Amino acid sequence: MSKKGRVFSGARPTGRQHLGNYLGAMQNYVALQQDYDCIYCIVDLHALTTLETTQELTQNTYEMALDWLAVGIRPEESIMFVQSHVPQVTELHTILSMVTPLGKLTDLPTFKEKARQQPQNINYGLVGYPVLMTADIVLYKAGLVPVGVDQAPHLEFAREVVRSFNYRYQTNVLIEPAMKATEVPKVIGIDGVNKMSKSLDNHIELASTPEETRQRVMMMVTDPQRQRRSDPGRPEVCNVFSLHKVFSSPEEVAEIDRDCRNAGIGCVDCKKKLAANLNAHLEPFRTKRSALNENPDAVWDILHEGARRARTIAEETMVEVRAAIGLPK
Ligand code: TRP
Repeated sequence: MSKKGRVFSGARPTGRQHLGNYLGAMQNYVALQQDYDCIYCIVDLHALTTLETTQELTQNTYEMALDWLAVGIRPEESIMFVQSHVPQVTELHTILSMVTPLGKLTDLPTFKEKARQQPQNINYGLVGYPVLMTADIVLYKAGLVPVGVDQAPHLEFAREVVRSFNYRYQTNVLIEPAMKATEVPKVIGIDGVNKMSKSLDNHIELASTPEETRQRVMMMVTDPQRQRRSDPGRPEVCNVFSLHKVFSSPEEVAEIDRDCRNAGIGCVDCKKKLAANLNAHLEPFRTKRSALNENPDAVWDILHEGARRARTIAEETMVEVRAAIGLPK
């Protein structure tokens, strides 16, 4: 293959994906397939660091895989798999943990935030989360990792761990990954304030029906200063307008910008237009998703085949890693 190199990214199995996932990550995953050999992983083990129950883990994995496939991840080309299906990652995690200073882990902003969120469950795995993430990446010798800017500390951490490992064992088997920040503006939820997320229930799911989508769009918070229909609006602070910029034509965006400012269009009509455009945009995705969902076994087969290919690469790396350390054969 004449592609530029290998990309790896992972996401926790959060079930049906929403517009934030789509604009922030999935679209980028799809585009990268053009120029790179891509490996996309559903990180179920990482999910265990925060989950209270695993009841929905399998279903959420399946739903996310459906969304990835329907959006355009091509399993004939890219590798798409479930993290726990490649147990080598846990071996590498253990090995890398020996070159990781504990203080570095507990200093990470991502750890501190999680510790604040779940003070009753600051488990060992949570502390080691970035080590497992490093193992994910370096197990496949990926050069490039597309992630949101919130993951920057983890990527820098991964690079440091790779350097420590290579220095400690005087080797170069592990490769320092580079980050490819997805520079999409933060997608705000229907509350108009917070980042779109499932846990805040301010999201719009890609797989919902047109009617459900319309209802969610109609609930969106707009410019709080525009209280009456006759008040002029400020598109620049309105989240409905932000989404118009993504899903509506440039002409329509210009029109809405103008008509919002002069109160020519009300929020209700503006939202109806957005809902219609959003539904039109998502229609091919939804059709493909329904078709895939007709045959769940085929979706699992894709994941299992991905894992098989991933294990081949992973085992090759582990042979080198074990040898570099001097573990007995
Ligand atoms: N930590 C990432 C997140 O919370 C998920 C993740 C796990 C990941 N392993 C990875 C991302 C490897 C990129 C590469 O979003």
